[in-house]
Amino acid sequence: MVQKISWNSELSVGNATLDKQHRKLLELCSQVADCLEDTGPGSSERFHMILNDVGDYAFQHFQTEEAYLSQHGYPLLVEHKAEHMGLLSQLSQCFFAAGRGVLDRHGMYRILSEWLSRHMMESDMQYRDFIRSGGVEAATASGKGDCSS
Ligand SMILES: [Fe+2]
Ligand SMILES: [Fe+2]
Repeated sequence: MVQKISWNSELSVGNATLDKQHRKLLELCSQVADCLEDTGPGSSERFHMILNDVGDYAFQHFQTEEAYLSQHGYPLLVEHKAEHMGLLSQLSQCFFAAGRGVLDRHGMYRILSEWLSRHMMESDMQYRDFIRSGGVEAATASGKGDCSS
């Protein structure tokens, strides 16, 4: 029995669109978990399809989130984007391996679920806190980044 992550209000980043996308990503991840023990006819194709949906949706979400962070002048945007790229690259390696006949469903699920939970609970919460505290205007007003003194 694999552990699933579900969305709860503590994971809210304070933006309805992004919260909706995070919820959907966790739902898709849960669907991947449901496919792990499915060994019936067509199960490999079903597994690939859902994993493909996760990749597509993650890409879409990352674009929305990065645009939002850019609008708010988030100072850790470059690092945040690099984390997003990290998952997309891991997923594409999984697809490549699967294409060569190496299909490690549990390994793929572990990569996905661990990445999503760590990223949402740590990195996405970091930008939530930054924006909640007033974002770049508050940082400027408090003198952070001011080299004139
Ligand atoms: Fe993110
Ligand atoms: Fe996110």
